[in-house]
Amino acid sequence: MTDQVIIFDTTLRDGEQSPGASMNTAEKLRLARQLERLGVDVMEAGFPAASNGDFEAVKLISETVRNVQVAALARTSKGDIDRAWEAIKNAAHHRIHTFIATSDIHLKHKLRMTREQVIETASEAVRYAKSFTENVEFSAEDGSRSDWDFLCQVYGAAIKQGATTLNLPDTVGYALPDEFGQLIRYLREHTPGIEKVIISTHCHNDLGLATANTLAGLKAGARQAEVTINGIGERAGNTSLEEVVMSLYTRRDLMGLTTKIRTEEIYPSSRLVSMVTGIVVQPNKAIVGANAFAHEAGIHQDGVLKNRMTYEIMEPKTVGLDTNRLVLGKHSGRHAFRAKLTELGYDMTQEEIDRLFEKFKELADKRKELADEDIEALVAEQILRVHDVYELGYLNVVSGTVTVPTATVRLKIKGKEVQKAGFGIGPIDATYNTIAKMTGSKSKLLRFTVSAITGGMDAQGEVSVRLIEDGLVALGKGTDTDIITASAKAFINGLNRLEYLKTNPTLISDDRRL
Ligand code: KIV
Ligand code: ZN
Repeated sequence: MTDQVIIFDTTLRDGEQSPGASMNTAEKLRLARQLERLGVDVMEAGFPAASNGDFEAVKLISETVRNVQVAALARTSKGDIDRAWEAIKNAAHHRIHTFIATSDIHLKHKLRMTREQVIETASEAVRYAKSFTENVEFSAEDGSRSDWDFLCQVYGAAIKQGATTLNLPDTVGYALPDEFGQLIRYLREHTPGIEKVIISTHCHNDLGLATANTLAGLKAGARQAEVTINGIGERAGNTSLEEVVMSLYTRRDLMGLTTKIRTEEIYPSSRLVSMVTGIVVQPNKAIVGANAFAHEAGIHQDGVLKNRMTYEIMEPKTVGLDTNRLVLGKHSGRHAFRAKLTELGYDMTQEEIDRLFEKFKELADKRKELADEDIEALVAEQILRVHDVYELGYLNVVSGTVTVPTATVRLKIKGKEVQKAGFGIGPIDATYNTIAKMTGSKSKLLRFTVSAITGGMDAQGEVSVRLIEDGLVALGKGTDTDIITASAKAFINGLNRLEYLKTNPTLISDDRRL
């Protein structure tokens, strides 16, 4: 058996099913390019039958990405499989991923099917998918809660029809590591023909065991791990790519398994996912959290200064967090700025670079040094920039313990200057109330998050908002050294995106899925 693990990334499909994580087509394409750079073997680009937006995004990714297999998810119906194939047929390497539930709970209450009907349906789906491509993956949804012998029968039937990968999902994150490993061993011993196919794990994190279960599965003989960046996904999320890859890398002495992941691309990938989804990474998150390599306690700092290995099991630079990296400042020129963008993996037009460079100079005048995260935040504003109906001209906020928070805002609305003042229960509320009045927006705030991009007193604040209006959902981002200004920018960016969504059908269907 090979000791190489196939990394199947499903950030664009299962990850996108996280509450509030929907991405538009341009964002998905940007992420797909980063996944290619990261070196995943397979990317599940979406579920084409779910919406037109999903279909278009999978198709575009299939036509763009050349070095990675592109998978599309489909239920067992012919309609779903047709749609999946239509979306991926131009990919350099394609895969159809079809699934049906196998647990008695799902059979009885959801599918209302007998076990025999499930075997027949799964066989038929794999046979049909095989008529389009050699590369067919079959998943037994809720597999970990299914009867083990029945699972062997369903997988056996899928193998007979030519499935090349068999995936075992722990759909509701119920399994324990020993049990999950044992189930994989049982499948290997009792499923006819299983030695011809790759066994895959797909774990959810409801009990916080997704990574442990995945590693147990790999130890037991699985050779594909389905994962997402930052572990985003339905409910408590999926197994996180960075945790599995770095566990295999750091404990290769015990696991004896490798991946093709370029580990230095882990941190940039994590930042990008967080930026496009607006889902902030918790500071204590393993591998990519802001504190993952921070040593606070005196005794730890002393040890690390003497020898990093006393308290560090991985080097930050291995995951792309280079503590010695070059920082840009106000004396950096256009050339250095462009080189930095290339180093961070951004492929931009000259016009985009010029626009960004102006913003960079404004920011560099306020701060001595700009870290990569600051540059990425500028790029994020750029990615999320659509044709602006509303532009922030001026903002003045008065707040404190003895005044009613008041905001005076000047906006350019379709090129015309308008000014108004308003109140609120806090400075941000006053700003948002005033902007809402000026723009006539009926949008509601679904989420508001604020975080510091880098450490230090002069750190930039990064605000991300999610707005909903008439069923349309838009993400807005804003960064500034002043968090109230960053909040205003994020709100205005979100309002501009809502305006854009109203006139762009692809984005509408995409964001409607929330
Ligand atoms: O969690 C799950 O069961 C899934 C399948 C569709 C693979 O995401
Ligand atoms: Zn899943």
